[in-house]
Amino acid sequence: MAIDIKTMFFLGLAVVLTGVGKSAFIGKSHSGGKDDPVLQYIVNNSLREHPVLTKLRLRTLEDPWSIMMVASEQAQFMANLIRLINATKAIEIGMYTGYNALSMALAMPQSGNVVACEIQETYVDIAKPFFKEAGVENKIDVRQEIAMKTLDELIAAGEAGTYDFVFIDADKLNYDRYYEKSLELIRTGGIIAIDNVLWSGKVVNPAPSDLTSQALDALNKKLHKDQRIDLSMLPVGDGLSIVIKR
Ligand SMILES: C[S@@+](CC[C@H](N)C(=O)[O-])C[C@H]1O[C@@H](n2cnc3c(N)ncnc32)[C@H](O)[C@@H]1O
Ligand SMILES: *[C@@H]1O[C@H](CO)[C@@H](O)[C@H](O)[C@H]1NC(C)=O
Ligand SMILES: *[C@@H]1O[C@H](CO)[C@@H](O)[C@H](O)[C@H]1NC(C)=O
Repeated sequence: MAIDIKTMFFLGLAVVLTGVGKSAFIGKSHSGGKDDPVLQYIVNNSLREHPVLTKLRLRTLEDPWSIMMVASEQAQFMANLIRLINATKAIEIGMYTGYNALSMALAMPQSGNVVACEIQETYVDIAKPFFKEAGVENKIDVRQEIAMKTLDELIAAGEAGTYDFVFIDADKLNYDRYYEKSLELIRTGGIIAIDNVLWSGKVVNPAPSDLTSQALDALNKKLHKDQRIDLSMLPVGDGLSIVIKR
């Protein structure tokens, strides 16, 4: 059967559109996106993973919730942002088994400090031996309580305006509140990185019953207009917004 030019065009367009749909949600090299050759290429040709991070990643992949783990290529990007702005004070909202907290601590000088918020004891117990093995346990201050409480405690302790970097990665329905507290805690020129802002692409047309996608979409739209910050939304992992405080 001969295929005419027009049919070829529409087939091509369909492929391109499918590709675009996929690339808007690039996925993570350790889960959804691991069969994507371009993502493999990125990892093969740019990842420089500390040996203890590799061990922690492999350990975390044994956990049934490992899909929550930040992708290595994303953690490395955030570590490079930390180097770029000479960050010494960071907060992570949602530490899980500690992959990104460890990655941030390794990117900081001896004087660096990461406040890592995680409610679940089992995850904290997995993380801590790896922090020790990497020799950075003194740089990571794990707060095993509700993250909002920790942020309020930091503000009450007079630490507003002193943090360089915050990574928001827990409890999507509270993202807007975490964002406002984070903006209070960081200095001018400090960075807030917000994870999962594309939510597998579901933010594009959130279903009426999908409160998580609606919350993420509302925050994305609020940030777009927010004159207190500069903004980039990147198709890395599940979508990563980079907010710079003006
Ligand atoms: C997506 S995971 C974080 C992944 C992590 N950033 C990493 O580097 O792999 C979200 C974590 O936040 C924790 N969490 C959820 N709600 C929380 C809350 N209100 N306070 C503190 N931790 C919370 C969960 O137990 C879970 O481990
Ligand atoms: C990436 O590296 C893996 C392991 O060496 C290899 O199997 C895979 O073909 C590589 N993929 C690309 C696109 O470079
Ligand atoms: C970071 O520190 C280095 C070395 O101390 C310095 O040269 C550089 O200007 C600093 N960069 C920023 C953005 O502060």
